[in-house]
Amino acid sequence: MKKFFYLSIFSAMLLACTSPSEVSSPDGSLTVSFELTADGSIGYSVSRDEQKVIEFSPLGLLTEQQELIRGFQIKGTKKKHHSSVWQTVWGEEKYIHDNHNSMVVSLEHETHILMDIEFRVFDDGFAFRYIFPEQSQQSFTITDELTSYRFTQGAEAWSIPWRTEYYEGLWSKRRVSTGRCANRDSECDEVLRGDNQALCTADTMCSPITLEFADGTYGFVHEAALYDYPAQNLYVRDGALRTYLTPWLTGQSVSALKTEGCEVKAYINTPFSTPWRMVILTNTLRELVASRIMLNLNEPCRLEDTSWLRPMKFMGIWWGMHIKTMTWEQGPKHGATTENMERYLRFAKEHGIQAVLAEGWNKGWEDWRHFEFSVPYDDWDMDYLSRLADCLGVEIVGHNETGGNAADYENDLDSIYSYHSSHGIHVIKTGYVSPVIRTSDGLQWNKGQSGVRHYRKVIETAAKYRIAIDNHEPVMPTGLQRTYPNLMTQEGVRGQEWNAWSADGGSPCEHVTVLPYTRILAGPVDYTPGVFKFENPVIPTTRVHSTLMNQLGLFVCFYSPLQMACDLPEHYLEHADAFRFIESVPCDWERSLLVDGKIGDFCVFARQGRDSENWYIGGITDEEQRMVDVPLTMLEQGRRYMLTLYRDADNADWQTSPYEYVIESTEVTSVDTLHVSMARGGGFAATLEIQ
Ligand code: NOJ
Ligand code: CA
Repeated sequence: MKKFFYLSIFSAMLLACTSPSEVSSPDGSLTVSFELTADGSIGYSVSRDEQKVIEFSPLGLLTEQQELIRGFQIKGTKKKHHSSVWQTVWGEEKYIHDNHNSMVVSLEHETHILMDIEFRVFDDGFAFRYIFPEQSQQSFTITDELTSYRFTQGAEAWSIPWRTEYYEGLWSKRRVSTGRCANRDSECDEVLRGDNQALCTADTMCSPITLEFADGTYGFVHEAALYDYPAQNLYVRDGALRTYLTPWLTGQSVSALKTEGCEVKAYINTPFSTPWRMVILTNTLRELVASRIMLNLNEPCRLEDTSWLRPMKFMGIWWGMHIKTMTWEQGPKHGATTENMERYLRFAKEHGIQAVLAEGWNKGWEDWRHFEFSVPYDDWDMDYLSRLADCLGVEIVGHNETGGNAADYENDLDSIYSYHSSHGIHVIKTGYVSPVIRTSDGLQWNKGQSGVRHYRKVIETAAKYRIAIDNHEPVMPTGLQRTYPNLMTQEGVRGQEWNAWSADGGSPCEHVTVLPYTRILAGPVDYTPGVFKFENPVIPTTRVHSTLMNQLGLFVCFYSPLQMACDLPEHYLEHADAFRFIESVPCDWERSLLVDGKIGDFCVFARQGRDSENWYIGGITDEEQRMVDVPLTMLEQGRRYMLTLYRDADNADWQTSPYEYVIESTEVTSVDTLHVSMARGGGFAATLEIQ
């Protein structure tokens, strides 16, 4: 009965769209139209260069209190232009231009509930969010979000399935049929029913997704400023891309959570704004990678003093545990001993690496259940090591593995952070190693609303102690680092560690050539590049599918202001000449650009060091050998630069000869072009120092 009722509403809605309220981007190329239908249903459409790219796509929220999808009237519309340039604390760019037009449509529902929709339109994309102003209804329980995107043309989407544990999966490309649906009735029924429980299928994808449209243009669909709401997921049904919010879980045990029957998605109190729903649309990959919409949609920095935040490279007592030559727990192969850490700290000092991470220094690794965050093992002398680090001018990166027990960790944050800060530790790597974590709300998806709140509490509390966070097993980044720049980097990726122990033998060469166009568009990544020895003596069935030059290329292609050089010091000494690139490459930039690339095939990035005149170029390829041309037009005209090029030797190959490389130097200017050959699974790196 209810279903039939909605069907008739939708048919009426299609016939009787009233005139839209519109807002265009500053250069006029992109126009978003908000549309209210005769029965008060809400939706929007988008044109780009005068072509419709998204046709009427319904909007709305279902709440336990009301179904906020129809019965609205417009109370007012406000438009504004905004143009400002802001300086990043650290980043891929020193200055970012926020240039957009906005439109806030204030709506009143027939039940007198007030809801605004704010649109922002940039030249390279648009975003919108739902806003609940202060009103007599003070809280809502969100059961579904009906945001949809009905693209007018088909696309191929790069994505990972929504239940990929902490996003550590291989991205794959699949056709998504978007555009007008043949059978609108069944489609509309589904949109209006909002029956997402049934839709949470194997086809549901994590956000973000990267789209290659049939006409050769690109799209990136994600969210921005996720503070207190479940992470979005996306699925395609009957021609529209739709939203599936990560549910709030109610079961008490992990087995009880395996079923999907969770009605509640979020609890909100007014005033409240949802995260931004964001779509980047560009003609080229270079423009897609250069888009800064997501950062612009986040609030400006809330930290009063950011002078203590320092982008840096670090090494760590880490890879040894993954290749299983060392252990986290105390024993004959214990990695984090005072002696070993001293060796790492002295090595770092000698090679200009600013910090050293130590995992397994604290008690609790025997059962992963009762971690002590301020109690070292007997063979770790924290007082001595922190004094030594201080004398050497090298920082210690702390490590807090929670094993998924976020609740206990959260309860103790103040004492944990004051312990670390009193030992001079200003960066902590956190870890959760469970897609379902225990929060103060019981067992929850880490990317559900409760998990999102936990991660934010960690960042905010850490900031009080001048501690920066490297969050492993995080919620997907959404640009929060603009507001809290002490959230410096995150995992949320199938990182290097998988090459040490993965049952499938390690990630295929292609994997690293997908990430710059997908996961890394969402934010900095702690992938941990820099392996210099690819065979694993303990698990010989695994290896890193890469040449040594590919590992160097990653330092430029993968952006992270905390960049780990993850291998053992002794492996670096075997190739000290190549390690020199890691010693010299910065991880904070003045400008960054994609020189050339193709998703899943290769990429070449060029970046200028922050407050420096020097440039760094990195390239990586998949299992195909390829030649790339890199015009040096980014260099200052008329100036001479010393180029040091680290490249695969002619006989290099990730399978047979990964350690074959050539290092050569020559003077160049902006009129020169580099012709570089990358081996199968190979890459290159270059420094260009102004003379
Ligand atoms: C998973 C993290 O990604 C990895 O870097 C860490 O070493 C282990 N958990 C142990 O915390
Ligand atoms: Ca991990």
